[in-house]
Amino acid sequence: MAKLPILQFEEKIIETVQNNIVTVLIGETGSGKSTQLSQILYRHGYAKSGTICVTQPRRVAAVSVARRVAQEMGVRLGEEVGYAIRFEDRTSSETLIKYLTDGVLLRESLSDPELRSYSVIILDEAHERSLNMDILMGLLKRLISIRKDSNFRVLVTSATLEGEKVSGFFNGCALLKVPGKLYPVEIIYNDDDSKKNYIEAALKKAIEIHVKEPDGDILIFMTGQEDIEKLVKKLEDRVRNLEEGSVMDAVVYPLHGSLPPELQVRVFSPPPPNCRRFIVATNIAETSLTVDGVVYVIDCGYVKQKQYNPATGMYSLDVVKISRVQANQRAGRAGRTRPGKCYRLYPSLVYNDEFLEAAVPEILRTSLAGSVLYLKSLDLPGIDILKFDFLDPPSYGSLGDALRQLYLIDAIDENGAITSVGRIMSEVPLEPSLSRTLIAANENGSLSQALTIVAMLSAETNLLPSFARGSEKKRKHTPLRLPDGDGLGDHIQLLQIYESWSETGFDFEWCREHGLQIRGMSFVKDVRGQLCHIMQKVANCSMEVRGSHASRERKMGYKNLRKALCVGYANQLAERMIRHNGYRTLGLKSQLVQVHPSSVLQPDDDGMFPSYVVYHELITTSSPFMRNVCAVDMQWISPVFKKLENLDINKLSGGFSDSENDVQGEVQDEIKKEVKVVETSADRDSKIQAARERFLSRKGKK
Ligand code: CDP
Ligand code: MG
Repeated sequence: MAKLPILQFEEKIIETVQNNIVTVLIGETGSGKSTQLSQILYRHGYAKSGTICVTQPRRVAAVSVARRVAQEMGVRLGEEVGYAIRFEDRTSSETLIKYLTDGVLLRESLSDPELRSYSVIILDEAHERSLNMDILMGLLKRLISIRKDSNFRVLVTSATLEGEKVSGFFNGCALLKVPGKLYPVEIIYNDDDSKKNYIEAALKKAIEIHVKEPDGDILIFMTGQEDIEKLVKKLEDRVRNLEEGSVMDAVVYPLHGSLPPELQVRVFSPPPPNCRRFIVATNIAETSLTVDGVVYVIDCGYVKQKQYNPATGMYSLDVVKISRVQANQRAGRAGRTRPGKCYRLYPSLVYNDEFLEAAVPEILRTSLAGSVLYLKSLDLPGIDILKFDFLDPPSYGSLGDALRQLYLIDAIDENGAITSVGRIMSEVPLEPSLSRTLIAANENGSLSQALTIVAMLSAETNLLPSFARGSEKKRKHTPLRLPDGDGLGDHIQLLQIYESWSETGFDFEWCREHGLQIRGMSFVKDVRGQLCHIMQKVANCSMEVRGSHASRERKMGYKNLRKALCVGYANQLAERMIRHNGYRTLGLKSQLVQVHPSSVLQPDDDGMFPSYVVYHELITTSSPFMRNVCAVDMQWISPVFKKLENLDINKLSGGFSDSENDVQGEVQDEIKKEVKVVETSADRDSKIQAARERFLSRKGKK
């Protein structure tokens, strides 16, 4: 293999790193930043005074890059070279080069705020602009002024010009550009925009290339797993039906984040001779993973993006246009080994006029509750979250939303100080609603069950067969019926599924018969064990892990468990509307939503859905839905209403409540408005009750 561009600059890199505490390194994707930089530093003795740590925004990348580096160095993965991702640590005391997700590094900084075990911290792939990466940059900026040990170094790498912005953020630190060797890539646009049928358009183009063009692999960018699976299947069919001998052989590989690791790494091994590879990927192949041998790129022009609206608490999973930077990254994948071609399935007008220059960073489109809690838990002196040094500061609205949630779930007090509950929460690697649920469950004796639910929710893949949650998909073998949560909702169903499996002694056959994903279920079991361990450590709990109270809890309608969920989801509460066939959320701006059709929540014997539910997630697809809901009792939620009455966002942020900032004032007004809404809604409880009684008596007369 030709020498990677980074290696040709080894001396220059070392010289720069020696003379500068922070170095920003810009290099073309595939130039060797992720795999070589750590090894270069290792060779020059930087692992002598500590471990070299490399963060990755994606789990897949952390694992695959660590594996590759271990291979190149001829060591066993987990020894000198290892990785750590949430719920999976493959490092040892011998580890000298450690790949980890940026989330894991943030968590480590809680117990070791100065990150003393690391001699070098490489923030890799800064251009991805993950939320955790942005927070890490803010922290490291502080850390370099605190850690004065002469050898401590920070490197930030980026594939794009984002690097210049980063270097500006670090007060104009050293900036090194490694010119990548890129062959010319011919860009071919499509005349019409094929948003509706980009799968078909990609299929047509891919077969056309396969039939007409010389050898070279084809990389196709789709938006997500679903598209990829569809296209892979269609491609396989088409390739099979091509006349034998008329074209070369071909194999089709999917590549996305939820693929099992052994299928992910397949793309890194050389293809069989005389065989063309079709690689159908998400944007993971844009900059995180470089597949060698690609000569043709097909770019659909879209990406699937989760966006959060802090005013409504609503997520939407949208297929959005990529940015020009992304489009150029995608095209660049075709020119790594020889001149290539990039087929854009959209017109040049769309590229020029409709694409943004760069993608919107995650910090501007996600919920910040977890990050704000993290920052609060650091006890940085005089820190006002609203004024933290961010590369791209989030809006006051989204910080306000995060503070409000943290206050409602008791993680911070009315002055914005982190509470003892908040401290425990920050040590549990879960989103705030779930860590709060565990603590509440620990207090009321339902921890064992809560751990199960939380582990099931953290599975990272879809555990249940899709038909079990509503849609009627045809399958070869109809799986057996799953427990139904006693009609109380999806959390209870998840619990019952796990408990039934546990009763079989964790028999995989049982999973298979019930259409449950085996890999996912064993992951849940493992995660549950880890969470149990963490809870014992941080919350000092002495619980019975096996849950001998299971049948008693069930008889009581899972009261304690649902109460605990109600505490954790205090900011995710909805009230049934009498007139409308739906629920009204109690977020900053209330929304009319429906229970997701896949839910197992059932009306009671009188045909009434519960008056109040908590939900795990609000998501807009065809219309706004609550996903994973659980019925709760009216009495349990009154503490939440009380709290809403004395809410002051400026105080919560850790700043002063007499701030003159107008925007903060705006947030304040919103909240006051909402408190009013909530007051009336509390009053309405009695009205609801009365209406319910009238309804029942009418029904009785019939
Ligand atoms: O980080 P950057 O994009 O600059 O490059 P890299 O990920 O270090 O990749 C450098 C080379 O290593 C590329 O040619 C990749 O194809 C190869 N690589 C690999 O074969 N297997 C991996 N798991 C990772 C990288
Ligand atoms: Mg990389």
